[in-house]
Amino acid sequence: MTTDQLLIGFFVSLGLVVVFLVGAIVLAKQHKIKGHLAGIGAMLVALVATLVFAETLGRRYTFDPTSYRVHMPIAFLAAGTLFAPLITGYRHWKGKGSVGAHKKAFGVWFTLVVLALGTGGWMLSAATRKTSEAETPTQGE
Ligand code: HEM
Repeated sequence: MTTDQLLIGFFVSLGLVVVFLVGAIVLAKQHKIKGHLAGIGAMLVALVATLVFAETLGRRYTFDPTSYRVHMPIAFLAAGTLFAPLITGYRHWKGKGSVGAHKKAFGVWFTLVVLALGTGGWMLSAATRKTSEAETPTQGE
């Protein structure tokens, strides 16, 4: 895959994450729990695709060390704290935990996601593309 194709895949899957997350939240507000869970499930699939695209893209760029050092810990924290809304949501669903705890967990995770996106955008805008073999057309292409 060329770097441009990877970039398109990255932004399309990121867009799907946003669409599915917004859908899941709207459905939760309407108390449609099955829809909420389907939206969260679809968001997780799109999120995994986004991370695979990001990881593959990362190998094609040389990043500015400052933005890299700021972005990476935030991105790992955002990925790690995803378990908080998953666990509190499951507990609330089973009648063991409060919706307040679920909302707080969502708030923490979402704040970190926004920070990860912001610092990721900064990192990508300050990066330089490597010229790789994958970009060089081979005979017959
Ligand atoms: C990343 C994962 C998740 C996110 C971001 C998320 C987000 C939310 C949000 C924003 C709400 C609305 C709270 C409000 O303002 O009323 C909500 C409600 C809810 N969520 Fe989740 N959620 C997630 C995962 C889950 C999971 C895995 C479950 C259950 C297995 C779950 C069960 C619920 C339930 C039962 C409600 C309350 C719906 C109602 O008021 O009837 N959530 N969630």
